[in-house]
Amino acid sequence: TQSFRLGVAGLGTVGAAVVRMIARRAEALAAATGREIRVTAVSSRDRTRDRGLDMAGVTWFDDPVALAGSGEVDCVVELIGGSEGAAKAVVEAAIAAGKHVVTANKALLARHGAALAKAAEERGVALAFEASAAGGIPVVKALREGLPGNAVSRVYGILNGTCNYILTRMELEGLTFEDCLKDAQALGYAEADPTFDIEGFDTAHKLAILTSLAFGTEIDADGVSVEGISAIQPLDLTMAKELGYRIKLLGVAQLSDGGVEQRVHPTMVPKSSSIAQVMGVTNAVTIDADAVGELTLIGPGAGGEATASAVVADIADVAARIVRPTFGRPTTRLRPASRVEMQRH
Ligand code: HSE
Repeated sequence: TQSFRLGVAGLGTVGAAVVRMIARRAEALAAATGREIRVTAVSSRDRTRDRGLDMAGVTWFDDPVALAGSGEVDCVVELIGGSEGAAKAVVEAAIAAGKHVVTANKALLARHGAALAKAAEERGVALAFEASAAGGIPVVKALREGLPGNAVSRVYGILNGTCNYILTRMELEGLTFEDCLKDAQALGYAEADPTFDIEGFDTAHKLAILTSLAFGTEIDADGVSVEGISAIQPLDLTMAKELGYRIKLLGVAQLSDGGVEQRVHPTMVPKSSSIAQVMGVTNAVTIDADAVGELTLIGPGAGGEATASAVVADIADVAARIVRPTFGRPTTRLRPASRVEMQRH
């Protein structure tokens, strides 16, 4: 089997989870893609931290840009984060070196997605970003592969796990905003700078990506009107509750008069609505499209394992670009069904 060598730039919550997942799912990934996928290089600022990873045979780079140019990798997995600096330099260097890129970096794509996509296309490499929006929910695939026969009129949802976690615990447990945020940080949900979460910018970045896929627009995060949740008081939640509502931070992209409007703001949603039931770190994305009608995807929006799930989906896609076996090689046996007498339930 031909190997597919990954260079993982950034070993934070998500990076470490990706390295573990690639090892744990090696057999299934090989069967599904026809390639032996393995991590051959990593880069991280902190070599000393014990992440519980087996790094035997893996080359460490202090400089992620050197990793991107290394002859040891076919695909660079960018999990550094941030729209400028190291993350941008790594992705640009990887594309220039003819490496495929998988990234979870919504801020980078929201700011520089159009230019990076153009560079990747010109160089003939993949730039894959399933993990950049709504964590473990395969919404990028849904929008881009699942609905070509549809005209989409609206996409909206809860796109930031940290904010939904904070609003949920403030409401249900009466905790303070600050305590909830601290817990979200400890659980690895929040951005390195949590201002991005609570002021709505992270939601805006993700919305800009989804808008582009849903409506065929150029990614534009600056055009999103943004209000976060930092001004929400416990009293707001109580008042909303008394009126039969819950407060959710929503990102909304709506087509009207031939143009798409993008906005992010706290919204009162009726307690009986399905979006009001989405609690904790969970995200939800609703797509209104003419053929399928309303489609809602619900799942974990942040956290190492859930985000790694989306990153690994991209890695498998890119690895299989050469030849994807139609159904993959069988890894689990079928067994004959046992005869069951008619039963009363
Ligand atoms: N900080 C983000 C969130 C991480 O809380 O949703 C996932 O993008």
